[in-house]
Amino acid sequence: MPKNGHIVGIDIGTKKVTVLIGALTDERKIEVIGIGTADSQGLRKGVVVNLDATSDAIRKAQEEAELMAGFKINAAFIGISGAHIKSFNSRGVVAVSGKNRVISRDDIRRAIEQSKAVSIPPDREILHVIPQEYVVDEQDGIKDPLGMNGIKLEVNVHIVTGAIMLVQNLRTCVERAGIQIEKIVLNQIATSEAVLTHDEMELGVGIIDIGAGTTEVAIFERGSLWYTSIIPLGGDNFTNDIAVGLRTAIPDAEKIKKKFGCVIAPAGEEQETVEVPSVSGRKPRVLSRQLLAEIIQPRAEEIFRLVDTDIKRMGYEKSLNSGLVLTGGTALLEGLEEVAEEIFDLPVRRGEPAGLGGLMDRVRTPEYSTAVGLLQYGREVLRDLGPSKDRKRGLFGKLKDMFKEE
Ligand SMILES: Nc1ncnc2c1ncn2[C@@H]1O[C@H](COP(=O)(O)OP(=O)(O)OP(=O)(O)O)[C@@H](O)[C@H]1O
Ligand SMILES: [Mg+2]
Repeated sequence: MPKNGHIVGIDIGTKKVTVLIGALTDERKIEVIGIGTADSQGLRKGVVVNLDATSDAIRKAQEEAELMAGFKINAAFIGISGAHIKSFNSRGVVAVSGKNRVISRDDIRRAIEQSKAVSIPPDREILHVIPQEYVVDEQDGIKDPLGMNGIKLEVNVHIVTGAIMLVQNLRTCVERAGIQIEKIVLNQIATSEAVLTHDEMELGVGIIDIGAGTTEVAIFERGSLWYTSIIPLGGDNFTNDIAVGLRTAIPDAEKIKKKFGCVIAPAGEEQETVEVPSVSGRKPRVLSRQLLAEIIQPRAEEIFRLVDTDIKRMGYEKSLNSGLVLTGGTALLEGLEEVAEEIFDLPVRRGEPAGLGGLMDRVRTPEYSTAVGLLQYGREVLRDLGPSKDRKRGLFGKLKDMFKEE
């Protein structure tokens, strides 16, 4: 094992399970050394519905990644999604107790602890408590209050919760595959590490990850996370629409979507044709790409309108100063950015994962954003926590996030 260790990220998506193994270099860069994927059949809309099928897929992807890396996985960071995830902003306030009213780590810990004193239904568990900014004696916008003088310390946090039973099902699948869990991470939090720039996060940006079963949204501003939501619509809906619209089987519709799918037919290619196999042995038909776009576009608009309505309802449209970033496998659809730009009236770009070395070229597509982000998130957590014996302390060094206190 290299002296800097390994990080493992597992994205358990509706379409596929991805296992990535990263090796840390002396400069704390991550080299991707193992990649494994397996078709995922045990999830519906981002949630585990079949434990055996899911743990089988994890094991398959794990074996592939281990073989490539020549490394046996022990523990991993696991992404989570699904409409059961709910998040909200909260605030904690404490009196500074440290000597001479100098804010200590303990004050910060108590303030964060306080922010969790909101009523959370008994069937839900906290997955993340992420500090956004601190307020010291009415002075707001403080990123790190450690060592500052003050009487009152307040912290604003973003709290992410999930349904205990559904989170537990995810844990069970991973553990059945013989893998320990470092931490369960909200997909959007991981994905943002892989596709957003530091400047975008400071200025204000939204990320929209359209996978197979879900659309995962997050909004960042002033370097912090303010809003997350998950909509149970994604690429599978496009495939179904194509299957119905062209009267063809789902696997054929999926192939057609990936090969020819577009939201707006590219100029000059309106008349380009697609051969569509028919069901029940009838002769294949030839259809125009324009027709395909006419089937796909309304669904894309529906998803973006839902996201837009949510963002406006929560009052975050003013936060999106650097626009929106689309990622996830469905972001590969041609013309999707244009349609999003029209609906949101904001600049939109496609986000691919970046920033790692090694076999990175093989995962540089929007489908791998979450898995790559899990490695980057994992690196931050492990750095902040130091050697493994300290990991249960419950507080990250930089106070980036907090483990659920056991
Ligand atoms: N070239 C392409 N054009 C259009 N869609 C594509 C393309 N490649 C992949 N997709 C779609 O992307 C989706 C898979 O994306 P991704 O791997 O991000 O999903 P997932 O993480 O498994 O699912 P989820 O995040 O919803 O749980 C599928 O619906 C697939 O059809
Ligand atoms: Mg996904």
